[in-house]
Parts: sequence; structure tokens; C-alpha cells
Amino acid sequence: MNDRQNIQKLSIHKKAKLLTGSAFWQSAECEEVGMEAVTLSDGPHGLRVQDKMPNHLGLGTSCPSTCFPTAAAMACSWDTELGEELGRHLGAEAAYMGVSMVLGPGLNVKRSPKCGRNFEYFSEDPYLSGKLAAAYVRGIQANGTASCIKHFAVNSRERARMVYDCRVDEQTLRETYLTGFEIAVKEGRPAAVMTAYNKVNGEYCNSSKRLVTDILRTEWGFDGLVVSDWGGTYDKVASVKAGVDLEMPRCYFSAKEVEEAVMDGRLDENLVDESIYRQLSFSRAVRSAAVKDVDWFAHSSFARRCAENSLVLLKNDGGALPLSFSERVALIGDFARTPRYQGAGSSLVNPTFVDNILGAMGKSPLNFIGFEQGFKRKGEENQKLLNRALKLAERADTIVLCLGLPEGMELESADRTHLSLPENQLNLLNALSALGKKIVAVLSCGGVVDMNWDEKCSAVIHAYLSGQSGGGAVVKALTGEINPSGRLAETFPLKEEDVSCHEIYNKYPYKMDYAEGIYVGYKYYNALEVPVKYPFGYGLSYTTFSYTDAKAQRDGVAVTVTNTGSRDGATVVQMYVKAPRPELERSPAELKGFKKVFLQAGQSERVFIPFDEYTFRVWNARGACWSEGGTYLVSLGENSRSMFFHTIVGRGGAVTADRPPQSYGEYFACRISPEQPKRQLKKGDLTADLMTEIYDLKYCKGFVAGLFALISRIYSRSKDELLANSMNHLPIRFILLFMNYKSIQVEGFLEACNGHFLKGIRKIIFKR
Ligand code: BGC
Repeated sequence: MNDRQNIQKLSIHKKAKLLTGSAFWQSAECEEVGMEAVTLSDGPHGLRVQDKMPNHLGLGTSCPSTCFPTAAAMACSWDTELGEELGRHLGAEAAYMGVSMVLGPGLNVKRSPKCGRNFEYFSEDPYLSGKLAAAYVRGIQANGTASCIKHFAVNSRERARMVYDCRVDEQTLRETYLTGFEIAVKEGRPAAVMTAYNKVNGEYCNSSKRLVTDILRTEWGFDGLVVSDWGGTYDKVASVKAGVDLEMPRCYFSAKEVEEAVMDGRLDENLVDESIYRQLSFSRAVRSAAVKDVDWFAHSSFARRCAENSLVLLKNDGGALPLSFSERVALIGDFARTPRYQGAGSSLVNPTFVDNILGAMGKSPLNFIGFEQGFKRKGEENQKLLNRALKLAERADTIVLCLGLPEGMELESADRTHLSLPENQLNLLNALSALGKKIVAVLSCGGVVDMNWDEKCSAVIHAYLSGQSGGGAVVKALTGEINPSGRLAETFPLKEEDVSCHEIYNKYPYKMDYAEGIYVGYKYYNALEVPVKYPFGYGLSYTTFSYTDAKAQRDGVAVTVTNTGSRDGATVVQMYVKAPRPELERSPAELKGFKKVFLQAGQSERVFIPFDEYTFRVWNARGACWSEGGTYLVSLGENSRSMFFHTIVGRGGAVTADRPPQSYGEYFACRISPEQPKRQLKKGDLTADLMTEIYDLKYCKGFVAGLFALISRIYSRSKDELLANSMNHLPIRFILLFMNYKSIQVEGFLEACNGHFLKGIRKIIFKR
């Protein structure tokens, strides 16, 4: 008997149970069909293997593992080979720790720099995100460990992340929010894809047959496992119908929902069988090669190499860097001693070791004269610390100032409310700059900040959140032992009001209008010629490069790159394409290829950037298909604002007019939902259902709801922002998920929340 027949023979009672995990971090198991449980673990830049208190928020402890640079940092390397190598390291650590599937990488597009989880994602550009994600996947899976890319799809805000609805047009969906996943699926072939918590155009991603079956499986040929995000199954029956195979973590009551739906004909049993079959194939396929030992030291050194290749030199006036060994260097700033090297939430790693700039500088050949903390991490003004820093700085020729965002500003389940650095850090910078000394700023944070303070600095390095060995990498860049080669994977605007979705990003808690459409990041700034602080793709080097003899060929563009300076170094050749206009709505330049090239001083290399299936395509909303035909402008550049070569490439095939050309203003304005009259809810106005957020329970009639609302208020006052936010925005279904309740008890709970206390309690206690 074959696997499918074996599965068919199982009772529906048994089958239904296999569609949810067997524990918090384990998939389902079934002896009868030979399916073993698979252990899953976060995450994207290091393993978070929990032996006690399992949770999806990064709370509590986890076993030590290497904390590699976060995706936001690694994206600045623009180096897919390095990404693949990082993946191999993750895969090996996973195998050693008994984990068969790594929940990562995450590749959501950075629509706004305020998204609390941007540090976990690669870029504002889907092509770069997709290529890097595919590389990670290939690496992770090289030894048989599975990779699960996430969060599919259009997940770009943390506030109310489990419930909001993204209103997005088809062209934007395809080009901006799905292309990265398409590339990762086709080129990385991940074993699994995780659905996002949010809704897209009114439908939860987890219940979307269109996203999961029609697009992911049928159009892109994905044949692996589709997993829910943790607690992100909202309607179990719709989820199975959509083609989602596994609900995580274990849910005690959803099996009953599946069983009942099959029994009364609402759900086709074949769909259940297919999901089990895919799980079975998955559990057999993911068998990591045995890894008996991990060389933690070597992994930590590799993490440093990743950081070295990701540092972005944003400014270097008059060759302020690298530092000479004679100048007296004062090191100032809390981040030099207590590094920020990762973000908070489910990706939180318990590192095997953490270095810092202070320690590394002490061991370097620099003329290091001392360290001062300078400011309090959480923003409190402290005159004493500031005075001490000034006193030290007076004795120095050069101040290395370590600035950054505090931990609470970049985390899962909350977004930033502004892009500024804490005021006390800027006050310190102002005071130091009055001394007239050379200031070199090192920035530690997971993304974009307002950078207008950099006028007071001679040089700036953006270190991002560069993992457990990032401190050493920064000092190597300061001394010139390495030459920074990172390029920004996101634009730094002059001010936050310039971000294309600025006005609408946070307008409604539960609805997000993607009115800016395809105009995200540099595509917007370039289209409207908005001046920016630092463009997408930008980064300096201690050497210089020239680009000559660029030529378009049938299958790509070639150029000779020469290192014309006196130091070895790397640059990134970037290929941008502008599709026909005005027949189709286009941005003036879209990244469609890139190549990082390392050259010794004086060395030249012919670099070739091939065209691929994504180079010449535009989503044609009228025809609901990709169209290729037209005349494309292909450019090579050092960044999205500086091109050194242009050529025209014609492609055959019809161009179907999509819509009349519009100004950006018209394009934008017609896509914002009309303002809803605000309804002031009072107690008793709301009827709780499984999707009601804990925060809203205060509007329900019942005493039980009031009790939960009270607990939520207490949490809101707690100092732990992560916990408070997560608790308040959890739907009721999520809370019940972890309890061994029967569906009748869940029903009873809702009735109790809605004021039918006795009826509800009877169902909860007597289960009838
Ligand atoms: C996150 C996922 C993560 C999961 C398990 C969720 O809250 O959104 O990215 O993999 O928890 O920790």
C-alpha cells in the first residue's frame, strides 16, 4: 500500500489531529503512516532553541547559539555567497541542536522605516530581498535542514499585526510584495513557507487559497509545506481549504473543527489527506546530516566576517577614516561597552559570546586614551555622564562616538513612533562637536534613523545590528584592517515626512491602505525626485573604482571595474531597469541585478550581470499577467541615484495599455479609504468572537471579558513593552490555543464574555 492509501485509511478523527503541531516546537507525528515529528525553531540570524517555557516572543531563556548579523545588516553586504555561507552555518547549528527546520529567513518588504521588525528583513526592494533569501535557503538546506521563509505576505507593520487588513492593488501586490517570495521559492526551493498573520484585501493570508494554492503552489510550483505563523490560524476550515498544511503551535480545539466540517460536508476530506501527505513527505525529506559538534569559535569568527562585509561607510570627509595610530582616540557612548547587536522578539538569540567595541579597541594598535559612557541608554538626561565624556574628549584628537537606538525601539509587535535618535544622545553630540575635534560616529540600530546630525561628524559608519562579533568588525574598519564595502539596502530620507506611506502607515489600526502602490523606497524618491539623505545602494570605501567599457549583450550587461585607489576593497555594481512608460505605471529605476566584486589595489575585472526572468517584466493589471514587450532603459550604477551607463533594450511582445498616465498625486489619492466616522465604543457595545482582541474586551458585556480587560490594562502599565503590546493585540483564539479546551468550552468562554455567564460557565465546566 502506498503513502496516500495509508493516509486514506486513517479515521477522520485521527487525520484532523495531524493538521496541528504535536507541541509548541514540534510538527505532528503519526506512527501508522510512518510520520515523525519535526522540531522547528527560530530563526533568521541564529537558533532560539527553548528547553523550557516555550513562547514565540523571545521571552525567557534559550540554548546558546551563534548570533549572526541580522538580515538588515547582512543585506548591506549585497553578497549572496556570504548569505549562503551564513545559511550553511545556521543549518549546521540547527542539526547539532536537533532542529530540523529553521524558521527563517524573513523577507518582508520594508514599506516604512518605522516597522518594528525591519531589522529582521532584508530590504525595501523585493529583488534584493528575494535573491538574499534564496541564498540563505540554499545554505540552510545544504545539509538537509529545512528552511521556512516568512511571512507570506504583505506583512509590513507590527502594530495590530494579527488583525490588520492590507488593501493592496494587484500590480503592487505582484511587483512589490510577492516578487521577493517568488524569487526565494523558485531559486532557493525552501522546504516550507510560513503564512503571515495579517489579511490581504479582506482575507487572512492563512485562509487565502489565492495566495497559498493559486499563486504559491500553482503559479510558482512550490511543492513544500505551508505552515501558519504561531497562533496565526484564524479559521481552521478555511485554512485547510486554502492549502495550509500545518497549524502551529499545537491547538487543542481545531481538530474538532476539521472533523465536524468533514462530517457535515463543508470540507473535502481529500484536502485533509493532501495536507497530511505533504507533511509526511516533508518529515521524510528533512533529515539533517548528523552534526556531532559545532566549532563555536569558528562560527563566531564567521559572524565577524559577515559583519565586516556589511558595515556601511556613510560619510568620510577628508579621509577621516581609517584612523592613524598616532591620533589620540577617545571612545564615548554606551553602545561601545554594551553593544546592540540584535533585535527583540522571536528572533532573540542567546549568543555564545559577545564582543564589544571597547574591548576590541583596547586590543587594537590605536592610540586609545579612554572610554566614557556619555549617556543613559534609555534616554534620561545625565549631566554627570556628559561632563565626564567632555573631559575625556578634551584630551583627544579624535572622538569615536557610539550612538544607536535603545532595545525598546526595535522589536516584534510594536513599531517606532518616530525616526529620531534619543535626544540625550544628540545633546551629547552637540556638546562634543563644540570642542571642534574630529568626530567619528558609529551607529548601532536595525534600520533607518533621521541622520541630520551627521553634519557634526567627519565620518559615520552604520553598523546595523551586526551580531555577536560586530564590535571587532567595527574596530577593524576604524583601523583600516578592513575596508568597508556595505551598501544600503534601504533609503535614508531627509525627514520621515518624505516616506511615501508616511501619512497613511499608521492611520487606521486595523486597515492599511497601500495607496503609495509600487512607489516604495527609492522607487518613490526617484520617481518624484525627492532629495534623500543617503540613497538605496549607497556606501563609501577607502578606495576608489572606475567603470569602463560597459556593453549590453544579448543576455546581460558587462563592464570592466578597476580599483583605482591604493587599498584593496570591494564595490557593488548595480543594474537598474526602467520599463516602458507611460503605457504602464512604472518607477524610473528598479534594481534587476547586482554583483559584488573584490579587487586588490590596481586590479581590474570584467563583471557580467545577466538578465533573468525578472529583468523585463511589468504586471499588467488589465490582462492580469506579466507583460514583457516594450523598450527598456537598462542602467548600471554605483547606487540608485548615481548611474554611469545607460542603454536601451527592446523586448518583443505586446504592451497593453494599463491605465492612462497619472500624476503621483492622483495615483496616491484615489487609493485611500474614506475616513470612517469614529464610533465611540462603550461597555456592552461589542460582541466578542474568537478574533476579538484582548484590548477590546473592555467593550463587551460580560464580567469575564472585564476581567481579561483588567489583566490587559495591568500589562499595559508593565515596563515590558513587548509583552504589553503582544498581550493587548492578541485575538481570543490565540489565548485559548494553548489550553486543552474542547470547542464547546471555547464557545462557553465567548458566551461568558458576552454576558451569558452561567450558560458559558456550564459549557466550560461540564462541556455540554
Ligand atoms: C513570529 C514568527 C516566529 C514565530 C515563532 C511569531 O510571533 O511572527 O516569525 O517564527 O513567532 O516564534
